[in-house]
Formats: sequence, structure tokens, C-alpha cells
Amino acid sequence: MKISGPLVKALNNQISMEANAAHAYLAAGSWCEITGYDGSAAFFYAQAEEEHQHMLKFVNFLNGQGVGAIIPAVKQPPKTFKSLEAICKTALSNEQGVTKSINKMVDIAQRDKDHNTFTFLQFFVNEQIEEEQQFENILQKFNLLGRDKLAIYEIDKLLAGMATAPSAESQN
Ligand SMILES: [Fe+2]
Ligand SMILES: [Fe+2]
Repeated sequence: MKISGPLVKALNNQISMEANAAHAYLAAGSWCEITGYDGSAAFFYAQAEEEHQHMLKFVNFLNGQGVGAIIPAVKQPPKTFKSLEAICKTALSNEQGVTKSINKMVDIAQRDKDHNTFTFLQFFVNEQIEEEQQFENILQKFNLLGRDKLAIYEIDKLLAGMATAPSAESQN
């Protein structure tokens, strides 16, 4: 079954969103590294890799369906950030935007009765639940532990523990 025009457009737009997410996490990781937040740097670099994997999934999917994927230009992310907490707040709202975009595609696939694309998107529906929960958890830690230097040090250590490269499962 051929993917509909609007869905192809949305899938290509998603490549752009994932590429921009990868770039944003790379910038966050770089700032954390310079600032001395080593655990957070490792975490955001791993996030960047994960987003790169997401992007590749959409590229491979479109190409596999005989629709040439469009590799987009990416926006230049900021060079500096206000705080680790500010980065995580922005990350959560960006992830919420991605979730909306994924859900919109699921709606189109349903409307099109495009079961193939619908099934492909299920990975991302689940992934977005995890991504949002992850940043909600981190943000909660600021409320629990505080925002002084010692608290940030503890949160940085927590992020170090969360810095895992994309798992075998999420690469399916
Ligand atoms: Fe993603
Ligand atoms: Fe994400």
C-alpha cells in the first residue's frame, strides 16, 4: 500500500524533528561538559545518539516504502543555557511537541487505514511515554533535592546513571 501524500509529508517532517532534537541534546551535552556537569553531559550525549537512531528509523522506513526520505537542514541550537533545570524543562516541552507530532501521524495512518505505517509508529508512541516520564522524573528531583550546588551535584550523578546508549530493545 502506498503511503498517502499527507503522511509522507508528516513522516519527512518527523525526520526534521528528530534531527533537531539530536542537535539540541548535543548542544545541551556540550554546555554541560564545559560547565563541569559530567554526568549530565554523558546523559545528553546519549540522548542525542538516541534521537539520531529515531531519525534513522524514519529515513529507513520511508526509503523501504519506496519513498525517498528528505534529509533536512538543522537549526543551530543555543550555545549557552541558564541552568541544568532550564535545559530539562525545555527538553520536556520539546518531547511533548514530538509526542503531539507522533500522535498526529497515528491519526492520519488510522484515517488512511494504513496499517503498515500505524504499526511502525507504535514504537514511537511507547518511546515518547518513556521520554516524557524521564524528564518529569528529573525535574521532580530539583523539587526534592533543591537547586544549590550540592543538589545539582547529586542530580548530575543521577543523570550519569541514566546515561545509557540506546538499548538493544529500542533499536528494533
Ligand atoms: Fe525522538
Ligand atoms: Fe526524544
